[in-house]
Amino acid sequence: MSVHDSGAPQPPAAQGNVGGAKLGRISIPDLVARKGKDPIVCLTAYTTPMAQALDPHVDLLLVGDSLGMVLYGFDSTLQVTLDMMIAHGAAVKRGSKRACLVVDMPFGSYQESTEQAFRNAVKIMRETGCSAVKMEGGKDLAPTVQFLVKRGIPVMGHVGLMPQQINTLGGYRARGRAHDEAAGVMADAIAIAEAGAFSIVVEGVLEQVAQAITARVPVPTIGIGASADCDGQVLVAEDMLGLFGAFKPRFVKRYAELAGEIGNAAASYAADVRGRRFPGPENVFGSLKKSS
Ligand code: KIV
Repeated sequence: MSVHDSGAPQPPAAQGNVGGAKLGRISIPDLVARKGKDPIVCLTAYTTPMAQALDPHVDLLLVGDSLGMVLYGFDSTLQVTLDMMIAHGAAVKRGSKRACLVVDMPFGSYQESTEQAFRNAVKIMRETGCSAVKMEGGKDLAPTVQFLVKRGIPVMGHVGLMPQQINTLGGYRARGRAHDEAAGVMADAIAIAEAGAFSIVVEGVLEQVAQAITARVPVPTIGIGASADCDGQVLVAEDMLGLFGAFKPRFVKRYAELAGEIGNAAASYAADVRGRRFPGPENVFGSLKKSS
């Protein structure tokens, strides 16, 4: 069955179409033009097969540094390296052809200086073929964002709960409950937008704060644990598929329970092997031909 006759709602036509002629991937200007209009659909992807499954349905594939926790079992994103992001970014590029591709810059790869950020962003773009990079940070990061954007590197911002700053923020709690904290997240979003970011992930903030940011900044906001009023939404694919069970934040909605399905399949396989029912005649290569 093709994705077109599955009965499932179909994504809007590829945004890069001109006069019906397909131009390939959804571009950064296509996404920016969606501000306040069609919601932008984003999921994370870290591997080729996951990218192949998600690509027809989303506008944006994010190779997030959450892969450190989800794929590698780290207890934070801080151990993720540039080489890991590049290997997974390139794998997702090979598995996708429609969605815009954004790759996270990992902890330590952009905070030292604008030059370091530029060098590593170029390396990520050159070696993965992605369209943009994402970096976490507020007012302090604005000069870096501006430096990169002025040199042709599209940057997606990330404010609110910033997992790379977990040691200074002191935990994964929602941001913006206190008035001055809410004002700080707003100031961060404005600074990143004014520095030239084409879009901003707003993570783990009170709904009102996300709504106010979305109304205030001229670029699309992508919410996670934020508000349905953001210009788009992102989830970690493994969270929404029920494949990551270490913890389930309040903002995750599960659309499948694949960890349970994998367990059932593995149990059936194990029973078949132990009962000598696998491989069956259809899974082996027949018998020797008689020699004449
Ligand atoms: O690393 C990641 O996957 C992210 C998204 C959750 C926004 O930053």
